[in-house]
Amino acid sequence: MLLKEKTAVVTGASTGIGRASALRFAQEGARVVLADIQDAEGAAVASAIVQAGGTACFIRTDVSRRTDNERMIDLCVERYGRLDILFCNAGVNLPKLLPHSSDEEIDRVLEVNVKGPLYAARHAIPIMSRQPEGGVILFTASKTGLVAQRDSPAYCASKGAVVLLAKALALDYATCGIRVNALCPGIIDTPMLRRFADASPEPAAAWTEYSAAQPMGRLGTAEECAAAALWLVSPEASFVTGIALPVDGGFTAM
Ligand SMILES: NC(=O)c1ccc[n+]([C@@H]2O[C@H](COP(=O)([O-])OP(=O)(O)OC[C@H]3O[C@@H](n4cnc5c(N)ncnc54)[C@H](O)[C@@H]3O)[C@@H](O)[C@H]2O)c1
Repeated sequence: MLLKEKTAVVTGASTGIGRASALRFAQEGARVVLADIQDAEGAAVASAIVQAGGTACFIRTDVSRRTDNERMIDLCVERYGRLDILFCNAGVNLPKLLPHSSDEEIDRVLEVNVKGPLYAARHAIPIMSRQPEGGVILFTASKTGLVAQRDSPAYCASKGAVVLLAKALALDYATCGIRVNALCPGIIDTPMLRRFADASPEPAAAWTEYSAAQPMGRLGTAEECAAAALWLVSPEASFVTGIALPVDGGFTAM
């Protein structure tokens, strides 16, 4: 029970890495606020946690909106008494060359992937600072925040920004008991990746190519990302702040 007595907010908690992390955090004893735009899926994850004997609730949250970020954090404090862990994981990709990307698409990827974490962290930090135990903030960045990928310039820019946001906040709040890190998944089998593959001319071939391109010869799983996220937000990582941890099966070692 690595997170016994802790409270956590997880964004993008309805599917993929966020869902796996919310389930794992709850298994480890955390009371979890799940935030997402997919209501039915998010409510189902919260109810699975409750049925398994845990504590959780879902709140519809569009992380591109400042007020939604503030509401989800306030809900955690009102309902569970404190805010120990903020996991800003929600994200969208934009697999398009820059000249083909519209104003709206560029705004969306930056609003969800960068402004969301900025708004959430801005609201969380004063709350965590007032707590004697401080708190932990984790952002889901990506391997594309560490090394570039073809055909996704706006997405790469957004994830690079999140890596540096984690490092900058880690320095600013290192003496306040607030740790801030970034998780950098490689190619992970989630609904986001399946949508990406389905959009290619030959989805089955694309899927095989993704696996073949990995040093381990396979994709990562949401559960493997959740295990790394758990470690980063747990007291086991108490001297770890300002890092961008690749969970990529060796991809960024190439
Ligand atoms: N799957 C991969 O290969 C991979 C690799 C690197 C990084 N990532 C990152 O991991 C994170 C999770 O992605 P995933 O792979 O689990 O994909 P996913 O699509 O399964 O999950 C993303 C979740 O975010 C939610 N979401 C999207 N826009 C939102 C918004 N405006 N407000 C609130 N919630 C919103 C979605 O509803 C969904 O539940 C993302 O930040 C993504 O960029 C994924």
